[in-house]
Amino acid sequence: PETGCLSIIVLGASGDLAKKKTFPALFNLYRQGFLQSGEVHIFGYARTKISDVELRDRIRGHLVHGNAASSDLSEDLSNFLHLIKYVSGSYDSEDGFRLLDKEIYEHEVSKNSQEGSSQRLFYLALPPSVYPIVCKMIRHFCMNKSDLGGWTRVIVEKPFGKDLGSAEELSSQLGELFDEQQIYRIDHYLGKELVQNLLVLRFANRLFLPLWNRDNIDNIQIVFREDFGTDGRGGYFDEYGIIRDIIQNHLLQVLCLVAMEKPVSLKPEHIRDEKVKVLQSVPPIKTEEVVLGQYEGYKDDPTVSDKSNTPTFATVILHIKNERWDGVPFILKAGKALNSRKAEIRVQFKDVPGDIFKCKKHARNEFVIRLQPSEAMYMKLTVKKPGLEMSTIQSELDLSYKQRYQGVTIPEAYERLILDTIRGDQQHFVRRDELKVAWEIFTPLLHRIDEGELEPIPYKPGSRGPEEADELLAKAGYIQTHGY
Ligand code: BG6
Repeated sequence: PETGCLSIIVLGASGDLAKKKTFPALFNLYRQGFLQSGEVHIFGYARTKISDVELRDRIRGHLVHGNAASSDLSEDLSNFLHLIKYVSGSYDSEDGFRLLDKEIYEHEVSKNSQEGSSQRLFYLALPPSVYPIVCKMIRHFCMNKSDLGGWTRVIVEKPFGKDLGSAEELSSQLGELFDEQQIYRIDHYLGKELVQNLLVLRFANRLFLPLWNRDNIDNIQIVFREDFGTDGRGGYFDEYGIIRDIIQNHLLQVLCLVAMEKPVSLKPEHIRDEKVKVLQSVPPIKTEEVVLGQYEGYKDDPTVSDKSNTPTFATVILHIKNERWDGVPFILKAGKALNSRKAEIRVQFKDVPGDIFKCKKHARNEFVIRLQPSEAMYMKLTVKKPGLEMSTIQSELDLSYKQRYQGVTIPEAYERLILDTIRGDQQHFVRRDELKVAWEIFTPLLHRIDEGELEPIPYKPGSRGPEEADELLAKAGYIQTHGY
């Protein structure tokens, strides 16, 4: 942080997201020296009536997870936990927020106030239904009061609304309370290493510049698979479904970075301007370019209605009607309870014209960017099969991060994004107009699904999803290429 005193306030501190993501990310930042003990204080706020010690005990296990046991780990852990104070109160309680403010203020006064400004970062690890009231409370009772400047910023998690109308309403409510520069809409896919690498890859390599367009690329797939179901989150998921949970945000953000034009500079506004232009070029989704699925057993979850037609799988084809991409299908595919856990981008190039080698038909160049697990990029190439014969084979130029960057720890998305917020960098956050166009693209389709016009096809857990999705992919021109 800048000089001064930083307070990070986690609202919803006893909830799942805070325990699994927010506090561990803060702990990792602390361990790397980004949050200094003398300058930072962390506050948890939630309804549960527990003490500081009880909150610390609840999150301790999640902080240790993934870290090798060592003496400095236990020392760091205990120092970090001591930075956390807990305040309990309901989300619409003026008294609760007044008390929270008092605690923060006392900390600010005791730490440094003469030397520097105070900064307040509010992390809303809460269901969106309470965002408006909580933001109102923050605005009225908990803004930074330092005479020496400083700031107040708010991080909000998706889902930002359920459709265009509700998202716009939420945006207006928040917009009346905070400036756009104070609102950080997190999409954690934008914090992933290989997603952040996309701009570098595209705009710092001469190799890709002339190829990245409709003349050379046949189709692009952006895929998310999970090998587990809703896992105790059935109640939340059933209200949203896979399109709102993954495609309209995470995959669409990736699409923007894959498809956008080169920004004028790396300034957040320049990048976000280009992303918005991509979204504005996407026409409405056609029903015949959608396949929905629901895994068998999904409705056994007692928190899911037995009549639910919520998709847990979807393949959707988007088109970008601009000079670079017209005619190239962008296939977005996401599913829960599938055969593997993987997120990747597959850029499939067109066939070589006038093939003199009589290559196998399925021998296209394909560039794959694997976001997770095991970050990697590889390019499928056709090469001469080693040996006396002049025949061809597909092989790969492979950059696997584990092998190439041994010993380098790849930061967690949340770590990076919280640090960006502290630094005031909105590049990897979703701007209000971007969110609006993202909803415009999906809302008509979502309404058709909600009204029961489109039914999900059942699929077996642990499978590849409905076969109809593969047929749609084939229709869009995707060809399963051969590897070694
Ligand atoms: C969240 C979704 O945004 O992303 C979850 O709500 C999903 O349903 C998760 O499991 C996936 O994130 P990651 O980083 O594990 O791919």
